[in-house]
Amino acid sequence: MIPVVLDCDPGHDDVFAMLLAAAHPAIDLRAITTVAGNGPLDKVTTNALRVCALAGIDVPVAAGLSQPAAGNAPSIHGESALDGTDLPEPADLLADEDAVTLTERLLDKAGPVTIVATGPLTNVAALLRKRPDLRPRVAFMGGSCGRGNWTPLAEFNIWADPEAADVVLSSGLEVTMCGLDVTHQATATPDVFERLRAMRTPIADRMGDLLRFFASTYDEVFGMPDPPVHDPVAVAAVAAPELLRFVDAPIAVELTGTHTRGATVVDLHGVTGKPANARVALDLDRAEFWDVMLAAVERLG
Ligand code: RIB
Ligand code: CA
Repeated sequence: MIPVVLDCDPGHDDVFAMLLAAAHPAIDLRAITTVAGNGPLDKVTTNALRVCALAGIDVPVAAGLSQPAAGNAPSIHGESALDGTDLPEPADLLADEDAVTLTERLLDKAGPVTIVATGPLTNVAALLRKRPDLRPRVAFMGGSCGRGNWTPLAEFNIWADPEAADVVLSSGLEVTMCGLDVTHQATATPDVFERLRAMRTPIADRMGDLLRFFASTYDEVFGMPDPPVHDPVAVAAVAAPELLRFVDAPIAVELTGTHTRGATVVDLHGVTGKPANARVALDLDRAEFWDVMLAAVERLG
């Protein structure tokens, strides 16, 4: 089993990442850490604890550093950052240390750990700045080889903290990027809603509610009635890499562009002559992905 720390900003699609990380047989979920992104730190942390209570996830949850990354996304995730359903009271899992300290302690004790990041990379960068000797694998949802979703050329997680993404991509670590190119293939089509409805479990019912909310905002904002469930793709890249196609490529993060700050510039054809600094996921076996994702929901139900 692969030891994993999930760093997230729940966020509707982050919840699917939490369930997949908690229930996939190949993953040993050691901790959940939270980062400001889809909502401020207190909201995303409360949301993570509520989801742990719903799904019976029993791991430490540690809040990120106090200085939140930029960005909030109420237009997509609502005022609570997880609108659309009733969730239980938060589980009593909040660690008495912050995300960086807890992850540092886990890495010192557990050896090779994979950090799956599904929000801005603020916490991951802070860990690497504090302890450049630590060598976790990092798989993150963020960026794209083409257009963005928060500005014309920047994807939200990278846009929210581009300097943090630059730290991760300059670290020399084994880094996997699951950008919009691959996550836009993880669409929740009507059959996904039907399969959740047919499960008739509290978790599946709540996930159906959340997905309906997510679909409504994605349709309103992006004209995408079948919303791409981005974040669990980064978990699948670790748990079931056979479901994805990857290429190695150099990725640069635009930090200063007036119109392009936060863009991930992925050199897919080696025109820059730079060495690859990441593995980039480009394709997904969508049917298999949803079988794996929904099996996780069923297992926790
Ligand atoms: O651009 C999609 C990413 O931004 C996802 O992680 C979503 O949860 C938001 O954080
Ligand atoms: Ca997220």
